[in-house]
Amino acid sequence: MHDQKISSLQVENRRFSPSESFQAQSSITAQTIESLQKLASQDVVAFWEHQANELHWFRKWEKSFEWNYPFMKWFQGGLLNLSYNCLDIHLSTNRANKAAIIWESEPGEIRTITYRQLHKEVCKLAEALLQLGVKKGDVVAIYMGMVPEATMAMLACARIGAIHNVIFGGFSEESLKDRINDSKAVCLITQDVAQRKGFFIQLKETADIAMASCPTIQHSIVYQRSATMYTPMQAGRDHWWHELTANKKGNIAPEQLDAEHPLFILYTSGSTGKPKGIFHTTGGYATQVRYSVQLVFDIRETDVYFCTADVGWITGHSYITYGPLMHGATVLMYEGTPTYPTAGRIWEIIERHNVTILYTAPTAIRSFMSFGERYPLASDLSSLRLLGTVGEPINPEAWMWYYSVIGKNNCPIVDTWWQTETGSIMISPIPSVTTITPGTATAPLPGVIADVVRSDGSSCEINEGGYLVIKHPVPSMARTVFGDDERYKQTYWSEFPPNEHHQGFYFTGDGARKDEFGNIWIMGRVDDVVNVSGHRLGTAEVESALVAHPDVAEAAVIAKPDEVKGNALIAFVTMNKTAQYDPKLMNEELRQWVGKEIGSIAKPDEIRFTEQLPKTRSGKIMRRLLREIVASGTISGDTTTLEDFSALESLRKQEEE
Ligand code: PRX
Repeated sequence: MHDQKISSLQVENRRFSPSESFQAQSSITAQTIESLQKLASQDVVAFWEHQANELHWFRKWEKSFEWNYPFMKWFQGGLLNLSYNCLDIHLSTNRANKAAIIWESEPGEIRTITYRQLHKEVCKLAEALLQLGVKKGDVVAIYMGMVPEATMAMLACARIGAIHNVIFGGFSEESLKDRINDSKAVCLITQDVAQRKGFFIQLKETADIAMASCPTIQHSIVYQRSATMYTPMQAGRDHWWHELTANKKGNIAPEQLDAEHPLFILYTSGSTGKPKGIFHTTGGYATQVRYSVQLVFDIRETDVYFCTADVGWITGHSYITYGPLMHGATVLMYEGTPTYPTAGRIWEIIERHNVTILYTAPTAIRSFMSFGERYPLASDLSSLRLLGTVGEPINPEAWMWYYSVIGKNNCPIVDTWWQTETGSIMISPIPSVTTITPGTATAPLPGVIADVVRSDGSSCEINEGGYLVIKHPVPSMARTVFGDDERYKQTYWSEFPPNEHHQGFYFTGDGARKDEFGNIWIMGRVDDVVNVSGHRLGTAEVESALVAHPDVAEAAVIAKPDEVKGNALIAFVTMNKTAQYDPKLMNEELRQWVGKEIGSIAKPDEIRFTEQLPKTRSGKIMRRLLREIVASGTISGDTTTLEDFSALESLRKQEEE
């Protein structure tokens, strides 16, 4: 890490307080938050014990916290089951016949599954897994699209103590194979086809190719999504979901699991090398995911909660499956692309199902914006009461569009900062309490001790850029990288090791600053921080400025070594579909624009216009690839998480011209 200061030049003065009507309907007040903060500051472990008590335990824990740097354990000796906490606890209440999942398929079919029905289906599948010989502690890979059966598969694993490894349904056979083999999965749950953008995605066909090189797989269970497709099945190995579950009773007792029993492995790409299997356990994860849903989404009995993430990512684990179901909420699940068959689809879904909470990503918001306002204006969005974002910094202009065009100036926006590794939301506004400034995730939730520090671990001054760290372990943090304790230690716990002042900090990999109100501004990954003329700039800030231009849809900024300035900034820009422009004139206009928004030193030296940016399948721009293209015109390394190779190819060709 470098010692120089990270310069932050972004200024944003707009502030939005929760409306009186939102506050009146919320049970969370400023006093609630104050007392939580007080408890957390007195004794953070006792604070989390207090939250853990909200779960159902078969037996209470004996040891609340053990810290053997950097390995943590929470609530050891306690016995619980997460599928029990998501399903069984509701069956003796009015929620038994409440919709747990409302599913809309891409072609428009609607299915409603009550808590009672979900419990039954999960139990049947759990019984089928046991019958196939899957045992507590075995790894089950799940390779599915956005169907309720994906949620059922996760919960069935949790019920018997199998460890799920969900692999995003858009991954290739290579990625699937690597992730199955690394986790030594014994069973794969998949489906014949998934539907996206009007196409059938052949999941079983891809799975067959992968499984041919996966010696640990003994069985696969195939959910039949299409009644008409022919699907080859390998005798002895492949089983139809509906046949396997047909004669099951649907009421199997949950396994009583230790709080530290593994719940899941979820692979995430590192900046280099092979993907890391982020390893999460049961009790701590459940405690904090449950708590965060309560605080951040202010969840209520009548909510229809819609998260547009995929179950293949951490957001789909914590905030489609476990979090909302622990609260007995109704989850709206959509199978397809939110802009298919028209850019109005997502808004039609919200109107059709009276969605009250929408949780999506800035990249999606910018894409919705690029189609113009007429699509959201054509639907009645008045059921919405709360909006959320996750995954990357939201530029204030996209925030304002979300707030005014979608939320009609009436819905708080929770900009939630967290990571696959943290398991649950760490930094976010409390919608009924926090005064929000567009572009910042505001402050850590009570119980989370996050700070912006210099490389020696000392706290930064107000508005001084530094490194975002978490200063005390929290229950939902990943316990390790599967099979690689050393990588876990190196990646997250070696930058700020314990010393005479502190017990070691968790390093998030993000650069940030804290403003005079205590708001934390994420400035992008530290590997996206660049030094221009002696100033270290967060590339996210320059991108945010570019995207604030009315004609710009998306932007990615990277650095190229420069003899005079240290680094030159190269901006890759995608213009709105409706924009008409002369590239030369627009180039200068955008440079001036950034100069005006941030300051002259942040002006990109070069602007390259592109139809698309290369992105991971979860929507993150792959700046590493852009850097490589600029440096050498070639592409190497792990590109398995790329969304669209054609985007990359066309950028490379431009480079050669
Ligand atoms: O850089 C931060 C960014 O996404 C990273 C975590 O990515 P991932 O593990 O894929 O999880 C995404 C879903 C939780 C973080 O290190 N990030 C996530 N949320 C935000 C964010 N950056 C700014 N603001 C956010 N709200």
